[in-house]
Amino acid sequence: SEKQEVNITFVKASGERITAKGKVGDTILDIVVNNEIDLDGYGACEGTLTCSTCHLIFPKDIYDSLPDKPTDEELDMLDLAYELTDTSRLGCQIVMTKELDGIEVRVPSTINDARA
Ligand code: FES
Repeated sequence: SEKQEVNITFVKASGERITAKGKVGDTILDIVVNNEIDLDGYGACEGTLTCSTCHLIFPKDIYDSLPDKPTDEELDMLDLAYELTDTSRLGCQIVMTKELDGIEVRVPSTINDARA
């Protein structure tokens, strides 16, 4: 059966906005990879929670509405991310739902590959 399509907009530090399509059930990392979105170094560990390069900043209301709260492993990785905020999450851990269709997320200006 066809999964429902969702849109997400990435707002880069430069102000550039990139809107991409994915499906319910995709992680945000999946959407970046599947659309070959040019975000420097994003998703270096391919979602294995060892890099923190997939750090994204969510609007507060969206952050509060995310169904899955961060695991300890995600929080440990977030601690290593640059420009950490109170509404930061790792994009590889966020699964798109219908409710998240149309969200805008901020991409930090620098990334930290915790594996380096
Ligand atoms: Fe490496 Fe998310 S892609 S922690």
